[in-house]
Amino acid sequence: MDTDGAAGGTAHWDAVYRARAEDRLTWFEATPTLSLELIARHAVPGRPVIDVGGGASRLAEALVARGVGPVTVLDLSPEALAASRARMGAAAAQVDWIAADVTGWVPDRRYGLWHDRAVFHFLTDAAQRAGYLRALDAALDPDGAAILMTFAEDGPETCSGLPVRRYSPDTLAAEVEAHLPGRFRLAERGRHVHVTPKGNRQAFQLSVLRRQEQAE
Ligand SMILES: C[S@@+](CC[C@H](N)C(=O)[O-])C[C@H]1O[C@@H](n2cnc3c(N)ncnc32)[C@H](O)[C@@H]1O
Repeated sequence: MDTDGAAGGTAHWDAVYRARAEDRLTWFEATPTLSLELIARHAVPGRPVIDVGGGASRLAEALVARGVGPVTVLDLSPEALAASRARMGAAAAQVDWIAADVTGWVPDRRYGLWHDRAVFHFLTDAAQRAGYLRALDAALDPDGAAILMTFAEDGPETCSGLPVRRYSPDTLAAEVEAHLPGRFRLAERGRHVHVTPKGNRQAFQLSVLRRQEQAE
């Protein structure tokens, strides 16, 4: 799916990342503590980890510093990826960088862990969600897990000027089940309040979806 020029497409996100430094973006975290804790609990040592819609986040460098991975970062925005690479310097060579729309992405390898913080909630169209979940299903190891953090049902209604779809762990699991029946179970659930650089509070839900054996 080519989203260039569409609301929420590459042009939108490149403009967002050109307009503001990474640490002025509402979703900025100096240390992605919760993501690191979840990844430490659910990653399989030595198996690849992918941060989907990783943007200019500091997660990739924190994972590389801890020896987790190999690490891949995928994002629509080449501007965001360039900002991350520049910040990381030589260590950026240890990360696989992919500029792509996840909703049409066809992975060429498998990952033990999929991490998404604040990306799935932008998919307000069912066809986009179907494409995202197709990519997730194709990308994950048979025993892999996916961490999906979205705005909670009482979280913001928009982000970066775009409408979002809010979830609880139950409604998120139901959405995944509708597209990929029987393929995932909810292995961990939680709630998190993110404080933006300006001090605003944003409620997130977090869900860890683990692959389950397919009944024949
Ligand atoms: C709110 S930011 C979150 C960035 C990062 N996950 C973090 O926590 O700092 C959303 C990110 O998703 C990316 N994005 C939005 N739609 C996408 C899509 N369809 N495919 C890949 N990336 C996408 C944007 O470019 C942006 O970097």
